Amino acid sequence: MARINDNGMVVLKERYLFRHEETGISESPEEMFRRVANSVALAELNFGDENQNLAWAEKFFKIMDELLFLPNSPTLMNAGTPNQQLSACFVLPVEDNTEAIFSCLKTAALIQKSGGGTGFDFSKIRPKGDNVANGGKAAGPVAFMKIFDVMTENIRQSGKRRGANMGVLHINHPDVEEFVNSKSTGKNLQNFNISVGVTDAFMHAIKHDSSWDLIHPNTGKKVKELSARSLWQSIIRNAKNNGDPGLLFLDEINRWNPTPKIGIISCTNPCGEVPLLPYEACNLGSINLAKMVASPYKKTVKIKWDLLENTVNTAIRFLDNVIDVNTYIIPEVEQITKGNRKIGLGVMGWADMLIELGIPYASDEAVALAEKLMRFIKDRAWQTSQNLAKTRGVFPNWEKSTHFPDFPLRNATCTAIAPTGSISIIAGVSSSIEPLFALAYEQRNVLDKRSLKHINFSLIEYLKANSIYTEEILNCINARGNLKESNGLPKETKELFRTALEINFSDHLKHQLAFQMYTDNAISKTINLSSSASKYDIDKAFKMAWSGKAKGITLYRDGSKSKQVLNSGIGF
Ligand code: CDP
Repeated sequence: MARINDNGMVVLKERYLFRHEETGISESPEEMFRRVANSVALAELNFGDENQNLAWAEKFFKIMDELLFLPNSPTLMNAGTPNQQLSACFVLPVEDNTEAIFSCLKTAALIQKSGGGTGFDFSKIRPKGDNVANGGKAAGPVAFMKIFDVMTENIRQSGKRRGANMGVLHINHPDVEEFVNSKSTGKNLQNFNISVGVTDAFMHAIKHDSSWDLIHPNTGKKVKELSARSLWQSIIRNAKNNGDPGLLFLDEINRWNPTPKIGIISCTNPCGEVPLLPYEACNLGSINLAKMVASPYKKTVKIKWDLLENTVNTAIRFLDNVIDVNTYIIPEVEQITKGNRKIGLGVMGWADMLIELGIPYASDEAVALAEKLMRFIKDRAWQTSQNLAKTRGVFPNWEKSTHFPDFPLRNATCTAIAPTGSISIIAGVSSSIEPLFALAYEQRNVLDKRSLKHINFSLIEYLKANSIYTEEILNCINARGNLKESNGLPKETKELFRTALEINFSDHLKHQLAFQMYTDNAISKTINLSSSASKYDIDKAFKMAWSGKAKGITLYRDGSKSKQVLNSGIGF
């Protein structure tokens, strides 16, 4: 039976465990995993017999119940309930007319209500002040984004949490300067992550200090010319001051677009890990790496490659099934989602795994292992998708895809690394591929009114395994959230437990780039910078991400938001 810690139980009780309206009794975590497994295994009936269905329901149950793998929140919350909307990620197109904009707003509201997050590229909207048919003046993309923001403020996902949005504007849109500054007061667009859609041409223009043309999206005519470097500086200033905007590297994204004949990608889902075509949706799941280590903290430690392989195989089948048992908000979403059958298997508990193995996050060894591990996961994921294609058929757009003819896959993409904001709490491990944020910290906003206090489990286990666990150390960790000032600890222990802000931004980025090499979609990663980080550091991080072939980058400088979600140290 799943061993879920106190924080995990709080989150599950508030949001995930199904409550019967009449009796008021909610299910146990085990019953939740059964509900999800049974619902997802129903897809087997389309391809096999009843025995297959039962056998796979058991396997799906097991990988969740043992916390080896968890699907994204909408699948956990909704599978097997009247709301059978199971995807976390959507991208919707925004066309340049009032009817289309508000129709998109309605679809977005329905998606968010059902538990999904939405991304929008607003670049087709004519610039502010432009003429409109009735003689009026256009409001421009940023004004419409504010309307989407208010919608999200008032719609709750599955009645449980507030939705999330990604807003993108192309670097050559005439309103790009307004967009870049749109979150500078810290009050606007609170339900949006924003990213500038940057091209290679723009990055070269910065390098050569050339001018940059802003182009009218409808006429294709030049509206304004400015210095590429001055626009770059304003992006950097805003990223430094408030964490937004991030960047999307559109050319790199499209170099890896598996279906360019179906469409060009200009946007991602809210947290950036899945570049999607208009109307496309994707469902995600993450493998818990902290469970993939034998004899943790000991000299005999090793990775359980067989367990990892089996978990990947089962998880890919699970995610492929989700596409078929899913319900779709509108036919356009169903059509493209079933046409490409994208899924995104990722990881969580990476920092915990490294600690179990005794490898510091900020080390070449960790980055080399990141590459090796993700390569292994991707290889197995593709193998499983190819095997599924043999019995279930390739994804319908396969012949029009870049996988044709060498890779007969069931899914246009198999891997993506999500932030795992909630599911990592349920699993009780570090999130995604992030280093430990702190050894003890308070997390706000997970649940509306309450905050959660976290103490890292791998630290306690490590200290006990090495017979250096004392009350004094525990007090120090609680007070500060790191081991910097605790006396008497070996240097390698302090090194192993360096936290997000003690790790240089370039080491953060190296992990993102290493995982990206073997990830079909993208990576959601926060590149943490200390509060003293300069514009020069941010310039360097952005350029390193682009030249290192990231698909996007999101920075966060400590303290740059007055209401930070994570705060180091628990203070008791
Ligand atoms: O841990 P969980 O499955 O809840 O989600 P995550 O890995 O933190 O985020 C995965 C994706 O879920 C995001 O990229 C969004 O597309 C979506 N999401 C959302 O719609 N609303 C939220 N409040 C958080 C995430």
